[in-house]
Amino acid sequence: MNNEPVVSLENATVEFETEGSLLNPFGEPDVVRAVNDVSLEIGDREIVTLIGESGCGKSTLGRTAIGVQKPTAGSVSYRGQDIWEARTGGDTEISYSEIRPALQMIHQDPGSALNPNQRIVTSLSLPLRRWQPELGRPERMERIHALFERVGMQPAEDFLNRYPHQLSGGEKQRAVLVRSLLLNPDLILADEAISALDVSLRVEMMDLMLELQELFDTSYLFISHDLSNARYIAEKSDGRIAVMYLGRIVEVGTVDEIIDNPQHPYTKALRWATPNLYGDDDGQPPIRTIDVPDPTALPVGCNFHPRCPNARELCEERSPPEIAASDDGHPCRCFRADEEHEYWDSSPVSKDSDDAVAVGGDQQ
Ligand SMILES: Nc1ncnc2c1ncn2[C@@H]1O[C@H](COP(=O)(O)OP(=O)(O)OP(=O)(O)O)[C@@H](O)[C@H]1O
Ligand code: SF4
Ligand SMILES: [Mg+2]
Repeated sequence: MNNEPVVSLENATVEFETEGSLLNPFGEPDVVRAVNDVSLEIGDREIVTLIGESGCGKSTLGRTAIGVQKPTAGSVSYRGQDIWEARTGGDTEISYSEIRPALQMIHQDPGSALNPNQRIVTSLSLPLRRWQPELGRPERMERIHALFERVGMQPAEDFLNRYPHQLSGGEKQRAVLVRSLLLNPDLILADEAISALDVSLRVEMMDLMLELQELFDTSYLFISHDLSNARYIAEKSDGRIAVMYLGRIVEVGTVDEIIDNPQHPYTKALRWATPNLYGDDDGQPPIRTIDVPDPTALPVGCNFHPRCPNARELCEERSPPEIAASDDGHPCRCFRADEEHEYWDSSPVSKDSDDAVAVGGDQQ
């Protein structure tokens, strides 16, 4: 193992071509830029929580980070090794057969990882048989049993012999967590892994994931659309929260930086939309419209400007680069993070701008 980050994305972009519509079957396909020039590193034993509204590109970014989705531009590396170079069979320093088991995934729907026609034990044995064929059956079973008992599913034998439909939602999700840990991965992508669970089970599952993370020295990329879950995970693990909007990471930092001192207007809107976070649910929403722009026709300039209460004319023309936020130094993609920026001399685009300053409690 070298000292490189477990995973690093460098200016990664993912575009999808959509099929022609019924009204325009032979027209040019539309292009959705699901991930737009994202750079992010995830270190050893680090937890990064990715947050943002539906369709902003969280799953696509997660799949890109674990080498399942190929970036159309930019790159993704595992411990410094370009994953797609390794995947295409080149003579690489780290081979794909080393990378694949090191980067695992837990889906929102545990059913997709557990074959409905197979007993749990068969579904769980598969990755071990494929990636660690040197293990004999007794060693495989010992590993599976030990982990099942570790996640509180005992006697393991009883659960392992069942079919997926004979497990509750929480039990299925634990079985999938065990499956992802069996190969002792370096990083687990947990894509809305707790969203389908009852609220009462979510905290239990998050605690279990964190407990196992310490035990296995694993990193997590935890995807959620719920800022309170993101805060829970990041607070307990000293992790970071990355806020995503229309394909871009717009702000990334610790709980103190993102929840207590958000700089980006979109992060402020997310916080406002999660009133149980800090009770600042009064006043008007710090957003101009709830409508998300068409992802096939992204706004020119800052892609948040049509919804941003602080937008000025400059925001309609230029896209903000990543700027270190002025007061605590965490990265943010908004001109406002730079107190000296010419943004401040530009004219507000709507009357709302001034109102929103008051709503957001921002004195500048
Ligand atoms: N295979 C695909 N082909 C075409 N478009 C796609 C494909 N996968 C994703 N997209 C589009 O890319 C954008 C981002 O999708 P993605 O699933 O990554 O968002 P998300 O943030 O995970 O959303 P959700 O919270 O609803 O799961 C969306 O506009 C989606 O329609
Ligand atoms: S750059 Fe302008 S439009 Fe974009 S988030 Fe900042 S203030 Fe709003
Ligand atoms: Mg998703």
